Amino acid sequence: MAQTIGLLFGGCSGEHEVSILSARAIARALTTPPNTEKYNLLPFYIQKNGIWQSSAVAQQVLESGQPLVVEEQNQEGDRPQRWQFPAEVAEIDLWFPILHGPNGEDGTVQGLLQLTQTPYVGAGVLASAMGMDKIAMKTAFAQAGLPQVKYLTVHRHEVWSNPCVFPKLCDRIEAELGYPCFVKPANLGSSVGITKVRTRSQLEAALDSAASYDRRIIVEAGVTAREVECAVLGNDQPIASVVGEITYTSDFYDYETKYTEGKADLAIPAPLPDTITAQIQEMAVQAFLAIDAAGIARVDFFYVEQTGEVLINEINTMPGFTATSMYPMLWDASGISFPELVDRLIQFGRERANF
Ligand SMILES: Nc1ncnc2c1ncn2[C@@H]1O[C@H](COP(=O)(O)OP(=O)(O)O)[C@@H](O)[C@H]1O
Ligand SMILES: [Mg+2]
Repeated sequence: MAQTIGLLFGGCSGEHEVSILSARAIARALTTPPNTEKYNLLPFYIQKNGIWQSSAVAQQVLESGQPLVVEEQNQEGDRPQRWQFPAEVAEIDLWFPILHGPNGEDGTVQGLLQLTQTPYVGAGVLASAMGMDKIAMKTAFAQAGLPQVKYLTVHRHEVWSNPCVFPKLCDRIEAELGYPCFVKPANLGSSVGITKVRTRSQLEAALDSAASYDRRIIVEAGVTAREVECAVLGNDQPIASVVGEITYTSDFYDYETKYTEGKADLAIPAPLPDTITAQIQEMAVQAFLAIDAAGIARVDFFYVEQTGEVLINEINTMPGFTATSMYPMLWDASGISFPELVDRLIQFGRERANF
């Protein structure tokens, strides 16, 4: 009998629009042979204000590819609705949450799905939260012996509350990391709130800005490196794809470069020495295991060509999944087509469920 797949998309993050495009591509894959016989698609759309919409509305959003315009409502009136899920959720055999960024990729939705006692695609609560929090993620990578850039963690109260502390903090960053360095809110994604700084005054402004996004901040030494990414698939014995490279002409891979058509190029496979490719693939699997990820992850690296060093940058537990996204394209180049990839992810979700 066909399984009913609850495709959950949209969500309360800056990556709402990307989520719609990812969901469109996955919906198409679920209605492509041989998946057509195996699965029934039941989509659910989470509006930008957090309200869940039933499959009829979700289907319309999938068809149009555009977010639903949320009318201004009073917050009090919205509140009960946030806790009312469409009745059709009872029909779901397995969830496919294709939500990127905070409130979707960070363990919050995973916790909710866990409580429904229904299997779901991708990482569980802990790995999702670790993959979103740059400080927790780096701690796990360090523990696993994975090389990464030098960094310092900063708390909002050091930036905002005490005029004696702040200059000392900046002195320490200058002494230990130098310029250029990158200032990042610990939990965000899509390069939002990230600044590359080259001077003391830029550092001060960047810390102030990052503190407005998050209580916890990370400051990293900047490296001059090529940016390469590797896809991972599986549960306890995950496999790594071929490696891909991102190139762009902007100062760094910022929000605009990520989401403006034509600003970045992908090279798959990346033109790298075989030993470097093998090293990246091995590190990608180690990173996946270090946070106890499941099903899916994309692991991003810096390759410092001059020294031959490979440094891990981050893991994404629900990477972009549009027809032109790195994750499915890496698998396609590794011999797993888009529909087959979706099928495998569902099977890994089912395999991992232990309710
Ligand atoms: N330490 C660093 N050295 C050089 N470039 C960096 C560094 N950290 C971040 N970047 C640049 O900023 C981009 C976004 O940073 P990243 O930590 O990946 O944030 P996000 O989670 O938002 O993608 C990277 O893809 C890279 O271009
Ligand atoms: Mg990144």
